[in-house]
Amino acid sequence: MCGIVGYIGDGESLPVLLTGLKALEYRGYDSAGVAIFSRGAVKEKKSLGRINVLEAATKGGDFSGSTGIAHTRWATHGVPSEANAHPHRDCGRRVFVVHNGIIENYRELKEYLIGRGHKFLSETDTESVAHLIEDFLKDGRDFKDALFAALKMIKGAYALALVDSNDPEKLYAARLSSPLVVGVGAGEYFLASDPSALIGRTKDIIYLKDGEVAVVRRDNIEIVNFENVPTPYEIIKLEWNLEEAQKGKYPHFMLKEIFEGPEVVRAAFRGRINAKDGAVKLGGLELIPEKLKGIKRLVIAACGTSYYAGLIGEYFFEEIADIPVEVQFASEFRYRREPFDPGTAVLAVSQSGETADTLAALRKAKENGLLTLGIVNVVGSTIARETDAGIYNHAGPEIGVASTKAFLSQVTCLLLMALYLAKDKTGQSALLRELENIPGKIEKILAQAPLIEKLSEKYQDSQNFLFLGRRYNYPTALEGALKLKEVSYIHAEGCGAGEMKHGPLAMIGPDFPTLAIAPQNGISDKINSNLEEIKARRGPIVAIATENDESLGSLASDLIRVPATLEPLEPLLTVIPLQLFAYYAGVKKGYDVDKPRNLAKSVTVE
Ligand code: F6R
Repeated sequence: MCGIVGYIGDGESLPVLLTGLKALEYRGYDSAGVAIFSRGAVKEKKSLGRINVLEAATKGGDFSGSTGIAHTRWATHGVPSEANAHPHRDCGRRVFVVHNGIIENYRELKEYLIGRGHKFLSETDTESVAHLIEDFLKDGRDFKDALFAALKMIKGAYALALVDSNDPEKLYAARLSSPLVVGVGAGEYFLASDPSALIGRTKDIIYLKDGEVAVVRRDNIEIVNFENVPTPYEIIKLEWNLEEAQKGKYPHFMLKEIFEGPEVVRAAFRGRINAKDGAVKLGGLELIPEKLKGIKRLVIAACGTSYYAGLIGEYFFEEIADIPVEVQFASEFRYRREPFDPGTAVLAVSQSGETADTLAALRKAKENGLLTLGIVNVVGSTIARETDAGIYNHAGPEIGVASTKAFLSQVTCLLLMALYLAKDKTGQSALLRELENIPGKIEKILAQAPLIEKLSEKYQDSQNFLFLGRRYNYPTALEGALKLKEVSYIHAEGCGAGEMKHGPLAMIGPDFPTLAIAPQNGISDKINSNLEEIKARRGPIVAIATENDESLGSLASDLIRVPATLEPLEPLLTVIPLQLFAYYAGVKKGYDVDKPRNLAKSVTVE
């Protein structure tokens, strides 16, 4: 993935572009570049490494100009290098372009263009776009026409921001299967891959749709399809604020976002529940009551952390709403050939609302005539727009690449959706009353952060870790293992505790610690027996146990205490120590936990 920022307005573009790129650094950080246009001159700078290198390289130079495009790269075609960094341009230095996505037919295009005399300077797929437009300009077309002609030849996925250096009073943008938003300011417009890059600049956002081109001037915008026919657009108000997008007193976004847990759960249920009456009100689902009644089977499609939240959702929908559920990796669902009956609905769970596989799963569901639902954090994102109905998480921007607070809000939203769909409302009042207590209970766990930090230090030399849980805590164990892998690069596996003796137990020994999620509930005896088997093989055990539960004292080497709660709500508590454990493990190793190596936050390519 890469990140794009563009600016046109009355102000200076460089500071806007640099702060925007910094906010998008999670999308890629091997090289970066800017091009700024003023009075017939183009000022370009590219650098290897992170945005602060580019910032230093532009400091003191003349980069004034009120139109500009910029890019942070995550290499796909060609090594990270200045030559391969964007913006790319044509031979005549007229067409400047930054791109996110993949031009699938770039080899053919490049060969064709070289045959027509174009000289390429990089190994990227993107450069072919600039030369192709130049080629059409030679036919005497105007820039917009040449852009349309080029877009019709390009195959693949793209978000493009372009400037014609002969006319820098316009910024062009085009989108196909890669996210791109326009920010609307007073006498200025912004382009960005993701609205988080525009926090503090504007709250008014237009999401470009697939197959749209925007022609942006400082005082107006025109959005058309590839046939140059105007398309309607909506300006969405984003309620995110600058404070949410800054680290504040925290050393990392990941820690800040873990500590936002109590507020995130509150924000997910605020205004949606009446605990006394056991009632759940979800405005986003109210328009389709008959279709919801017709759901006989639910497929939850998601990726990564959102998939694990979906696995917890499976228990909610089956045990609370009596709806059979299957949770599938969106990347598998999209290519699977399975029979559907009309009572099947597909629920996409996605923080970003832009994950390519989840979007493809959703589109497949629609092609099959199925009802599509969504639980999405980013308002107005593609998945949110394309589902038939759904609810927003209201978790605020998640900046850390490793998802933490989004998981909590997804689990809360899945619970609310299951309660909403349940025909038998018995017991809902008790669950909702306890849900209201969850933020306070999370705070008690967060107060133990120093203890969890010490524990992660104790185990910092372990090369492997096993995470165990049962029922609701089984997906939580999978999520705990993923978090540890992502930010500390320690190998970790999540496993249903009952599955231990069917294989994984073979790995256990004094050097292979287990993190067991073992709160006191209807299945505690079973998990305790599983832990006995580990102890018998001298495997160290860190157990997450309920306050005052003494039964684990003799089994576990170390204990992390969580307040008692109802079993379905346990993941909202037990995941917190796992997130903190992973965070401290990564920090102790000196890694950048907000931007783990090789990972990007919203995975908008397949
Ligand atoms: C893990 C993580 C990823 C995402 C996954 C789905 O910490 O962040 O596994 O959960 O890429 O992303 P969304 O939820 O944006 O669809």
